[in-house]
Amino acid sequence: MSHSFPVITPEEAAAYINNGDTVGFSGFTPAGSAKVVPKAIADRAIAEHEAGRPFQIGVMTGASTGPSLDGVLARANAVAWRTPYQSDPDLRRCINEGRVRFFDMHLSAMPQQVRYNFFGPVHCAVVEACDITDDGEIVPTSSVGASPTFCRCAEKIIVELNRSHPRALRGIHDIYEPADPPHRREIPIYKPSDRIGADCIKVDPRKIVGVVETEQTDETSGFDAPNEVTQRIGQNVANFLAGEIAAGRIPKTFLPIQSGVGNIANAVLGALGQHPDIPPFEMYTEVVQDSVIGLMEQGKVRFASTTALTLSREKMEEVYRRLDFYKERLVLRPQEISNHPEVVRRLGIVSINTAIEVDIFGNVNSTHVLGKSLMNGIGGSGDFTRNAFISIFTCPSTAKGGKISTIVPLVSHMDHSEHSVQVVVTEHGVADLRGKSPSERARLIAEQCADPSFRDELLGYFSRVRDGHTPQTLAAAFAMHQQFLRTGSMAGVDWESYYGAQ
Ligand code: COA
Repeated sequence: MSHSFPVITPEEAAAYINNGDTVGFSGFTPAGSAKVVPKAIADRAIAEHEAGRPFQIGVMTGASTGPSLDGVLARANAVAWRTPYQSDPDLRRCINEGRVRFFDMHLSAMPQQVRYNFFGPVHCAVVEACDITDDGEIVPTSSVGASPTFCRCAEKIIVELNRSHPRALRGIHDIYEPADPPHRREIPIYKPSDRIGADCIKVDPRKIVGVVETEQTDETSGFDAPNEVTQRIGQNVANFLAGEIAAGRIPKTFLPIQSGVGNIANAVLGALGQHPDIPPFEMYTEVVQDSVIGLMEQGKVRFASTTALTLSREKMEEVYRRLDFYKERLVLRPQEISNHPEVVRRLGIVSINTAIEVDIFGNVNSTHVLGKSLMNGIGGSGDFTRNAFISIFTCPSTAKGGKISTIVPLVSHMDHSEHSVQVVVTEHGVADLRGKSPSERARLIAEQCADPSFRDELLGYFSRVRDGHTPQTLAAAFAMHQQFLRTGSMAGVDWESYYGAQ
């Protein structure tokens, strides 16, 4: 053992957390999430509730986590409020039923707001580490997320020392917290591989109240193999970007890529890796998933800056087996830096994110189903999109077996406005919105991206409007959504019944 902090059980750790506390947990996706202490907190909450006493905490993390954090705490009714992102089915249900207060945030913005006390004091930080030293050096594991800030601000720190991650991970992280305004200077990252910080989180060792030892592995789930739709989306993105290089609008050496997480992102990266006219590239992104590791082995991805290694167990073992190789090609930064608008704008990132729905004018909804039910959250999509060199949104043209068109007259909730969204890609094609007016955009998106079964409806929708800069009809803008709520399908809208009300 390399430290002399008290080794405590998860239950002893949970006893440090009180009803009403705010806790900052490590974790950005299931990668590097605290796992055993949250479960003990959930058990404590259940026992307190059975004894007739209240027990709920405020939960902050880097982003989404695994079932052993959000899932267990939600099921135990132990979460009063939650930020900045989640993707757990049980927590999502609690949020949509109004039982958990959730506030959705740009991931890069949260640490500064925590430091400035926007959410009140942080009573405890619970962070996973692969190593810890007596003088307070905490080495994170497969993600960094917001842990440096949680540790800086927390009154006490509990460390989950996880032996499933090798201590030799030290050196893969680059921990840097900017000074807060008005003292902030530029963040000196000029290429994705630049290192500007420390190889560990340095804390006052007197704040560490105990170390919980564990060997529980990250709870990452695998991805589906690319299907026909995701493959076509991937090819459309790759062809578009190859065309941009050929046209001289992207340098021949290419630009760093940010790519979201999930099946579409996997297919897009696969297509970029295979395209003969896309040179080997670098990534400046928030999540590295299996496909990136594969592309590194093939020499197609030269370097990736990220805050999380969200890998299947097999890929993670592979990375740990050849750690020296990957340490030269990967850096894990705090999310405040991996997603920082200043760096994104400076490096000229090509951002590729996924939409739930896109309207014909180029506004994007990434977070809500039918305008009211939260799916996951905005995550880092806004950090990258708003500041990208070229911002791309992808989605299949339909959802729920073809009953929903993801291309709609007006998004039912807006996360990314027409001012930030430059390119929309579905399996049917690419709508390049740059330099296009709202009317031109509407035609392009309907013709290039909508499913043929909804195309005429969308073209018919705005072609009836004779005036205004943006050909919108308020009375009919949500006709397709209302049709779905009434009939279970967006098809077959009786448009004429709406147009009397203009
Ligand atoms: N209306 C209703 N439901 C829709 C829909 C629509 N227009 N579009 C998608 N859905 C549903 C799907 O049917 C699916 O539901 P199910 O789980 O019940 O089957 C669910 O939304 C997820 O869709 P899926 O096609 O599996 O996409 P995904 O896993 O790629 O996730 C987002 C898509 C948008 C939810 C996800 O990318 C996200 O959370 N993005 C925001 C965060 C982000 O972009 N972060 C930055 C990069 S990591």
